Amino acid sequence: MKTACRVLSAVVLMILAFIPNVAGAKDFVVKPPPASLDKFYPPQSKEPKWVQQMHKLSGSFGGVFVNMREGDWENAEKLAGQFVEAYKETSEMVPEWEEYFDLDAAKNFAETVKTRDGEKIGKAAGPVGKTCGKCHGDHEVSVWAKYHWPSFHEVKVIDPMDDKEVGFDKYMGSLSGAFKGVTVNFKEGQNDRAHKAARTFKTKYTELKSTCSKCHTTGDVQRFYVGEPVMAALSGLVDELGKDKPDPGTVWKNVGIVGKEGCKHCHLVHRPASFIKERWEEK
Ligand code: HEC
Ligand code: HEC
Ligand code: HEC
Repeated sequence: MKTACRVLSAVVLMILAFIPNVAGAKDFVVKPPPASLDKFYPPQSKEPKWVQQMHKLSGSFGGVFVNMREGDWENAEKLAGQFVEAYKETSEMVPEWEEYFDLDAAKNFAETVKTRDGEKIGKAAGPVGKTCGKCHGDHEVSVWAKYHWPSFHEVKVIDPMDDKEVGFDKYMGSLSGAFKGVTVNFKEGQNDRAHKAARTFKTKYTELKSTCSKCHTTGDVQRFYVGEPVMAALSGLVDELGKDKPDPGTVWKNVGIVGKEGCKHCHLVHRPASFIKERWEEK
């Protein structure tokens, strides 16, 4: 009975360890990375040096195991030595992040590789791997938002309706207004107004194509959000609303395609980073 209890509680503890939320959900905080990281990314550094350093770490750390599985102990030991060096070097790059590194664990790992005992090596690698995971969990998303995502707040659009240049978010507001002009009027049976709004909306939506190249270097991304299915739905919407008796099924089907494959899918990809940056820019 006692043993059964112990086994059961051990099982429960193991499950709890793998489902952190059971023990109390944790917040995910996305703070701006420390300014001292700036010098390892463009524009301050020509190369993305931090990322290169990461490849050095994972190439040597992971390389130990590649060699180990091949029984190539000479190279395994060589890479373990290179790993300790790279790990120490990395720990000195960003002072605010120094405490993420466990130099003793790294040295112990390299020493253990010399035993050529796979099980021991695996065990010694655990604590080192944890230091990688902890920092990634805390900072990778914020580093992506800061250094890999250009800011939408700096993108300008020339509104084709009046040739005035406006900021991206303001343009979104007016695009959204034009979209509502279509749906609200159509629901009220005011088909002429809905038709006019649909033509404005189509023109404004098509202009979004001019923004992609501000960040993307190839045009192939334009298959999405502003590609054939959405453009066809926009034309279908205008054509249907131009008829004497527009078919509600066709109108709503096209509204749905634009709203989902256009607006929503683009938001799901581009807005999370934009929300983060917007919050950081708030004073
Ligand atoms: C003090 C923080 C920190 C520690 C410790 C750390 N990393 Fe990283 N690592 C990062 C950040 C931040 C990124 C995201 C870099 C980017 O995308 O610009 C990253 C990205 C990476 C990447 C992806 C690189 C790419 O091209 O996208 C790899 C691989 C990596 N780390 C390996 C490791 C390994 C292996 C260790 C442990 C031995 C480790 N890191 C320890 C912060 C850390
Ligand atoms: C402010 C910058 C910015 C603008 C403007 C922008 N994008 Fe992106 N987009 C990104 C970034 C950053 C990513 C992440 C991957 C990358 O870096 O290419 C991304 C990812 C994507 C992806 C996912 C596939 C991929 O290439 O990674 C698609 C599809 C895409 N964008 C389409 C578009 C289209 C279409 C437009 C114009 C209507 C557009 N984007 C405008 C910054 C932008
Ligand atoms: C190119 C991808 C893309 C497409 C397509 C797109 N949006 Fe957006 N939208 C964004 C991004 C990115 C933001 C956040 C802008 C920012 O942070 O400056 C945004 C913001 C918004 C906002 C908030 C504006 C504000 O003042 O903060 C609204 C409303 C909006 N979009 C509506 C729409 C509607 C409606 C459609 C479809 C008819 C649409 N968007 C199509 C990318 C897109």
